[in-house]
Amino acid sequence: MMGVMRIGILTGGGDCPGLNAVIRAVVVAGSAFYGDTSVGLVDGWYGMVENRSVELNPERCRGILTQGGTILGTSRTNPFANPDGPDRVLATFSGLGLDALVAIGGDDTLGAANRLHQLGLPVVGVPKTIDNDLSGTEVTFGFDTAVQIATEAVDRLQTTAESHHRVMVCEVMGRNVGHIAVHAGIAGGAAEILIPEVPFSVEALCDRLRRRHGGGRFFSTIVVAEGAVPIDEDESGRELGARSSDKGADQFGHIRVGGIGAFLAGEIERRTGFESRATVLGHIQRGGTPTAYDRVLATRYGTEALIAVHDGAFGSMVALNSGRVGRVPLSEATGRPKTVDLQLYRDVAGPHLG
Ligand code: F6P
Repeated sequence: MMGVMRIGILTGGGDCPGLNAVIRAVVVAGSAFYGDTSVGLVDGWYGMVENRSVELNPERCRGILTQGGTILGTSRTNPFANPDGPDRVLATFSGLGLDALVAIGGDDTLGAANRLHQLGLPVVGVPKTIDNDLSGTEVTFGFDTAVQIATEAVDRLQTTAESHHRVMVCEVMGRNVGHIAVHAGIAGGAAEILIPEVPFSVEALCDRLRRRHGGGRFFSTIVVAEGAVPIDEDESGRELGARSSDKGADQFGHIRVGGIGAFLAGEIERRTGFESRATVLGHIQRGGTPTAYDRVLATRYGTEALIAVHDGAFGSMVALNSGRVGRVPLSEATGRPKTVDLQLYRDVAGPHLG
């Protein structure tokens, strides 16, 4: 067990509800239990590369438990994007007199943390992402809030779909995985749930809608993850709606996806004649106050990260498994996404339920 420590904290990647709750737990519990001091790095790895930081203390953390976003700012800066990046991170770490770093992020942020740990950085990870796609943990904080928001949207779309006898397509986040789509789709009783893990046929989907509407249901709500991929080809043999984007890529090489909802609504209307509309939830899913579940989970994660730092358990990530918060190696948590349980998808989220 290490004595009084000076702990750096950063939040990287897409923001999500609960980031401030983790920061608060590390800063307040660190001060109260160990007499630690804390430093916030500005805008994720950018702050470590460019030596931008702010002092943190319990006073600064008052009232932030319920606040969405992150008081430290975030970015998709990759410390390995430039050859001197890792050395600059290590220089900032020693320049600030830090003993440990708590990195709060998803696969990109924690993948970089894992590589930096191998270069000697004493770092502990905290799993964050609304997508819930990090391996090594059953749940990331932020996911529950995103599902609540998406479910409320699906509920609202159902009533207007019914009134107008329409097909409503709701596009939710999920670039590579469909956890939000599956959970919000099940909770909202969607007729169809489309996810990146299972490529789908637009024509087969339209057939199911024709059968459903012919069978006396005159409206349908479809939840589609932004990364879902249609397998159909057009008349000239080109793939329909392939996952390409002209919106550029971030420093980790991820292209921006999106547009599948509008594409689908157009195709459904054209092929079936059913009036269709698309709604894109986008960043609404990432904003605002965390649910009670996420506040509690984020606080548990922050507290465990603090204990891990004092145990010298560097290179680990705090994680929730079988209801208990423990630790897993960062190397196990990063590199391959946690995808949707296909049994849940096929058996519980099947089209028969909508
Ligand atoms: O953080 C994950 C995520 O919300 C994905 O679901 C989504 O595709 C992406 O971030 C959007 O990123 P940005 O905020 O950079 O547009």
